[in-house]
Amino acid sequence: PESAASSLRTPIVAVLGHVDHGKTSLLDKVRGSAVIEGEAGAITQHIGATAVPLDVISGIAGDLVDPDDFDLPGLLFIDTPGHHSFTTLRSRGGALADIAILVVDVNDGFQPQTEEAIEILAQSQTPFIVAANKVDTVPGWNAEENAPIQKSLERQSDRVRGDVDEKLYEIIGQLSDKGFSADMYWRVQDFQNNVGVVPVSAMTGEGVPDLLTVMMGLSQRYMKEEMAIDVSGPGVGTVLEVKEEKGFGSTIDVVLYDGVVEEDDTIVVGSSGDPIVTDVRALLKPRPLAEIRTESRFEKVDRLKAASGIKIAAPDLDRAMSGAPVRVVRDREIDEVVEEVQAELADIAVDAEEQGLVVKADTLGSLEAMANALGEAEIPIVRAEVGDVAPRDVSVASTAEDSLHEAILAFNVDVLSDARKQAESDDVRIFQSDVIYRLIEEYEEFVEEREQ
Ligand code: GTP
Ligand code: MG
Repeated sequence: PESAASSLRTPIVAVLGHVDHGKTSLLDKVRGSAVIEGEAGAITQHIGATAVPLDVISGIAGDLVDPDDFDLPGLLFIDTPGHHSFTTLRSRGGALADIAILVVDVNDGFQPQTEEAIEILAQSQTPFIVAANKVDTVPGWNAEENAPIQKSLERQSDRVRGDVDEKLYEIIGQLSDKGFSADMYWRVQDFQNNVGVVPVSAMTGEGVPDLLTVMMGLSQRYMKEEMAIDVSGPGVGTVLEVKEEKGFGSTIDVVLYDGVVEEDDTIVVGSSGDPIVTDVRALLKPRPLAEIRTESRFEKVDRLKAASGIKIAAPDLDRAMSGAPVRVVRDREIDEVVEEVQAELADIAVDAEEQGLVVKADTLGSLEAMANALGEAEIPIVRAEVGDVAPRDVSVASTAEDSLHEAILAFNVDVLSDARKQAESDDVRIFQSDVIYRLIEEYEEFVEEREQ
């Protein structure tokens, strides 16, 4: 008989944070701990994601978790590289992730991408906790591998504990500056209105049991109704990346957040032009670590259900757009599904004005975040598109009536060399950054210069 867990979807957990603060290390540690538990096989590596089943979580969390208290199947963690915009992680007008872990290096505190992550978490109302990482680097730290954090803190000298507390309270203060009431996670009663801070070390594994326990508790308490969905319907997902893959042609990496996708399914995928209608040629999963040396890095599967990360190979996917929706047609009319995808894209589309700046970004989600930030700063946009800065963007900027609009803001994208040359001769300024508010600050400085 199917257990309750099999009808509940796995919650999606986004791991966010500034570059080098330890997102990937933390996930590696979770995977490594499972290897120690002798449950390496239970953990499945997905495209861009790691699925950790409940029994593995309870194994790592030890006394902190009683698996009988939970009926969710586990957690699907999505790693987001710091330089890549996690704003891609969107779905149907909201956040793709159900919950998030914001990783902050205890020594560095809040950094630009931390701030950006917080703003987007606030905007999308995604519940999150903070992993205050690298506690082992506090001078004098006395490590105990994989210990629950309070046990570990008890082992430290008064001086070390004082230092750790100071750093943690700084983070708590920074959260409060952003409008979040926060505290050490063990003092938080109501995670819906307070952000819990979990001290951890991705190096020693200390605090990792706590982190998993809190994430499991959060999803169980607040997400359960949303997780009780029918995961047998036609699949729905979001494109994370479009990639050329040897032997398969163009492929899309997708996070499937609802339903099922099968080989040979017809799918509709958002693009910069008309939606792409195509048939799935292969569903690809990464091979387990042990088999990584075989000729192909991927393994074919016939069928996959949410939530999961999968690579889809199909004709015509080169036009697909990061951040765009993917929908399986199954036994519906193709036109109906095309309309759904178009409606979703229209929802995200940025309303351009007669006059303003040209904005380019790497994904639909980051374009949307840019548009929000520019709107708040009352800076108008004349053209907003996903993709590298091309000569035609420069042409649009160079014909602006107002010389303050002779500029292009490029978020996380390249500037094609033709475009660079043309910008120089047309006196169009191009601002490039992977931090949204830096782009805005730099543009505002440019405005001040030109106005003088
Ligand atoms: P990006 O993906 O580039 O954004 O970085 P990331 O956040 O995934 O960071 P990553 O896990 O790659 O860690 C960056 C560096 O910090 C690596 O050299 C890690 O070994 C180190 N590191 C991460 N976590 C810890 C920790 O808890 N303690 C110590 N001592 N080092 C850590
Ligand atoms: Mg990383």
